[in-house]
Amino acid sequence: MKLGLIGQPIKHSLSPLIHQQFLLQVNDVGSYQLYETNKEELPNILESLKEDKVNGFNVTVPYKEDILHYLDALDPYAEQIGAVNTVLNQDGNWIGYNTDGIGYVTAIKSQFPQLFTGDKRVLILGAGGAARGIYYAICQERFQKVDIANRTIDKAKGILALNHQHIVKSSAISFKEAEEKLGNYDLVIQTTSVGMKPETNEQIISLKNLKPNAVASDIVYQPLYTQFLTEAKQQGAYVHLGHTMLLYQAKVAFELWSGQEVSAEKVLPKLEEILK
Ligand code: ATR
Repeated sequence: MKLGLIGQPIKHSLSPLIHQQFLLQVNDVGSYQLYETNKEELPNILESLKEDKVNGFNVTVPYKEDILHYLDALDPYAEQIGAVNTVLNQDGNWIGYNTDGIGYVTAIKSQFPQLFTGDKRVLILGAGGAARGIYYAICQERFQKVDIANRTIDKAKGILALNHQHIVKSSAISFKEAEEKLGNYDLVIQTTSVGMKPETNEQIISLKNLKPNAVASDIVYQPLYTQFLTEAKQQGAYVHLGHTMLLYQAKVAFELWSGQEVSAEKVLPKLEEILK
């Protein structure tokens, strides 16, 4: 298969490593190339990928929304989220998917299946693109409540619209309210970009009230142990590391392209070796 990644910057992406491993698992001698591009060049790149009969590609920052203009069809899930991270070449047509949220849910379910029992409460910190995908996927699961806290509360309210069928109870709350109610949640998911800047030592909310046996999950994986996870661990919580979302969204994407099942667990040690 001919596969690749479109975005900017992508030089340090770990996706090539992951997809090379998946290609090996299915005995495919194909490749996963990096297509770093600016916004003006995006339509030309897509044209050349089609001419090259590329089977599929991933899309990352900053093009997950821009790419929607150039696709022939959208999977309903990607349509709901309004962003695409995976494109499949189906008989010369580009079909857009979003595997981020499903990847996140698959990753956390494999480590903490007990969270998915129907009576648990979830808090998502942050209301950017990543939170949107995760919220939508989480709402399809059995949870008693899924709240979103964000610095800009209107952005959190905007995400609640994804739960239009009111599958779960859900509210948009401030960080102050989140701090006060923290003891109510069994899973707290950190999706803001704050954890990416370890040098600032910034913590978006105090974790003083975190339940001792709660699960703290961060989608940031560089560093692997963010300030959020370190503090959560000190409070006695279990931790779920961000690189597993990266790995499982890749697994779901690869399975769409290849039609074959691959093992994420087999790739995990290699990924952890690099991120250590
Ligand atoms: P992505 O699409 O990767 O999720 P994003 O759309 O830039 O990234 O969203 C970043 C998130 O981090 C937002 O929730 C943002 O809060 P605002 O919506 O209020 O901007 C949050 N964020 C970034 N820097 C922050 C900071 N210093 N304190 C609190 N939240 C922050």
